[in-house]
Amino acid sequence: MKIAFIGAGKVSTALGLYFKNNGFEIGGYYSRSCKSTEKAARMTHSHPYASVGELINDNRMIWITTPDDQIEAVVRQTLLLPVPRKDEKLVLHASGAYPLSILNPLKENGYRTACAHPLLAFGDPVVAQEKLSDVWFALEKPEEDNGQLADFFKACGNQTFTVDSGRKSLYHAAACVLSNYLVTLLDTSFAIFEKSGMPRDNIQEATRPLLESVILNLKGKDLKDALTGPIKRGDKNTVRMHLESLNALMPEMTALYTLMGRKTMQLLGDYSLEEVLNPPLSKQ
Ligand SMILES: NC(=O)c1ccc[n+]([C@@H]2O[C@H](COP(=O)([O-])OP(=O)(O)OC[C@H]3O[C@@H](n4cnc5c(N)ncnc54)[C@H](OP(=O)(O)O)[C@@H]3O)[C@@H](O)[C@H]2O)c1
Repeated sequence: MKIAFIGAGKVSTALGLYFKNNGFEIGGYYSRSCKSTEKAARMTHSHPYASVGELINDNRMIWITTPDDQIEAVVRQTLLLPVPRKDEKLVLHASGAYPLSILNPLKENGYRTACAHPLLAFGDPVVAQEKLSDVWFALEKPEEDNGQLADFFKACGNQTFTVDSGRKSLYHAAACVLSNYLVTLLDTSFAIFEKSGMPRDNIQEATRPLLESVILNLKGKDLKDALTGPIKRGDKNTVRMHLESLNALMPEMTALYTLMGRKTMQLLGDYSLEEVLNPPLSKQ
């Protein structure tokens, strides 16, 4: 199965490198700019296409890997091309938020369609492709799919799961809370460190072992077993002192601290600090 990508960015370059390493033939790339097209094609030793039409003509598995908001435009562009032999071409998108149904006009024109969202935050494509073998793909498949898509990922060694079309936005919100808001939470913590007097330039480096130990503690454990700290220990006075200093020096952080503290009690199933972390939590 020859694979190609419309949109030559982070995800498609990493996927191209990864599928190639797994023995699949990469046909090439088409992107809005020649620069991105050529760069991705060079990295994957594949072809830089000058048009969507040539790319579709030459390949069987076609990924639309533009920004989400451009998927519809690519679909419209593809509809102007000659109709392929029925079910000969598979078009996928990789968005975790947009539904599979955005590809329905292509399905009505004889393409097979699917959506496969990799649960990974892609940065540098070379680094990302090294992580890809551990990645789970969330599949949104049409009814007629009888497991071929899962088999494709299985051949690469990846796990897959099916995402419910009606709850896809919720699934993507969960991915955002994990990957994006974790970064925001770090930034919030850095701001508190800075207010405590720690030089801003040292914070990232000084906190790295702490952060890495948290990730390490998560491995193979229940989340609540990975927790450490005053709420787990039941140290009421410590939490009281945190709140007093936040109220005095960074009152805008108190609501977040309290909310996270209450979520932590909920995770532990231990409400002994309820009086400190007011208002009380519902226990159900
Ligand atoms: N980033 C992640 O962590 C991640 C994770 C999972 C899924 N996804 C999904 O993967 C898809 C791609 O994301 P990404 O992060 O790889 O995006 P990206 O790095 O911004 O790359 C998108 C590429 O598409 C090109 N492009 C834009 N509009 C186009 C059009 N109309 N026709 C052709 N090419 C066009 C861009 O332009 P140029 O040619 O100008 O460079 C760029 O190279 C999205 O659907 C996203 O939701 C992303």
